[in-house]
Amino acid sequence: MTSDAHAYSQTLGEEQSIWFKIQPFINADDPMAVLVRLSQRYGGCIPINFRSEKIYILSEIEHARRVLVDNVDNYVKYFDGLKPIFGHAMITVDGALWQKVRQPQQPYFHPDVYAEYVPYLLVSLNKKMEEWSKLAQSGVTFEMLEETWGLAADMICRALFDREVPFNPHAVFGAVKAYTDASNHRSIRLKKASGELTDVTDEEPPAHAIGAWLTLPEAVISAEPWQGREKTLLKMMQSAEAAGLPAWDHAQVQDEIKQYLWAGTETTALTLGWTLYLLSRHPEVADKIRREAHEVYGTRRPTAADVERLSYTRSVMLEALRLYPPAWALIRTAVADDEIAGHKIKAGDRIVLCPYIIHHDAKYWEDPEEFRPERFEPGRIKKRVKYSYLPFGAGKRFCLGGQLSQMEVALALTQLLRRFRPEYVGHTPPRVAASVTLMPKDGLPFRLHELS
Ligand code: HEM
Repeated sequence: MTSDAHAYSQTLGEEQSIWFKIQPFINADDPMAVLVRLSQRYGGCIPINFRSEKIYILSEIEHARRVLVDNVDNYVKYFDGLKPIFGHAMITVDGALWQKVRQPQQPYFHPDVYAEYVPYLLVSLNKKMEEWSKLAQSGVTFEMLEETWGLAADMICRALFDREVPFNPHAVFGAVKAYTDASNHRSIRLKKASGELTDVTDEEPPAHAIGAWLTLPEAVISAEPWQGREKTLLKMMQSAEAAGLPAWDHAQVQDEIKQYLWAGTETTALTLGWTLYLLSRHPEVADKIRREAHEVYGTRRPTAADVERLSYTRSVMLEALRLYPPAWALIRTAVADDEIAGHKIKAGDRIVLCPYIIHHDAKYWEDPEEFRPERFEPGRIKKRVKYSYLPFGAGKRFCLGGQLSQMEVALALTQLLRRFRPEYVGHTPPRVAASVTLMPKDGLPFRLHELS
């Protein structure tokens, strides 16, 4: 273990992370159903008293508007417990530092550059399809999230860093899961309290995960460039460091890489995984996607303009993101006292804003538990109530890679479904775990069938 990994590991089991604080509360068999019920009972604002602090779980659109837009500067990011994963990456910081970090990266997430990324994404997909062909032949049951995480990591490394994935995605995916499994943290806490554990070693799964995770940025930086491109996000960050731009030291570059390897991959992987589960349950929708791909780009290589025209495929993905938003909760701390829709908030209170509950609220969504991609037909999107759909957040902290991920998923769905029929073989519906992201508790086991 490096000294950084060792230092981070010693903080494991401390109670400062909100994810672990609200864990007993969301640890129920069906945590999201419990949250939806409680939200209804408490009129959209669930107060929790936790020793010396107060947590509010908020789930009305006025709450979202106040926290994310109207009084956004009063609600700062709260990422304690995830520091080993993200360090001081853009997603975790606020104010002037956030601006200095985000501003130079924005051009790499502009729709104009996506046209350049599409061929790289197709390379990742072609590689995945060859692997899937073997999986289909063998007939084995496999974990879909490992597959989609590996694909998303491959896409991000090629498009943003000009690298082939310089690590074993399966091992890293395992580490990510070990870290976000709150029961691993609880067991360390108990061992520390009983005096059984004084030095947290690599044998504890989350400590091992931290060790593995912290090696990734240097693995990316030192890997051979894939195509030797002149202009990439990674090169821009390295130049910012070399030029000594404010906020841009080597640790910042490392933290940004970590951020993309998690926030830019796990969310996309979950979106693709949940969508494939829904499509396995609704084969007629999968057929419509196949037909749309055929009509839009036929047998030629799709371009970014083609992906823009995949409106049905996109509506399927958006509906999957409504039902299963990977970022089911957005966490903040109040800087000063405030009032949100009649609720008095004190400086220091924690806010858990919950897109999941809003997405499942019958006030905004007819038959909210039903899978209906038509809700997202282009003509109907404009009629939607503002802030009733928040899979990518809202306001100035809106997801930087939202459009990129939509392109990745739309391209993946059309390409993969034209060649395969993925069959979900797990418990139906999958049980959900409210981890840092919205995870299937028992994974998403699948078998593949190659179409002739
Ligand atoms: C379907 C996939 C994705 C979902 C559901 C998603 C969701 C989100 C959400 C909800 C936020 C806001 C968090 C908050 O307000 O606390 C966010 C922020 C962010 N996302 Fe995504 N994301 C996805 C894909 C991506 C991808 C592909 C990238 C980059 C390659 C990315 C990079 C970021 C970054 C850098 C931020 C921080 C922005 C800031 O703080 O200014 N995301 N994402």
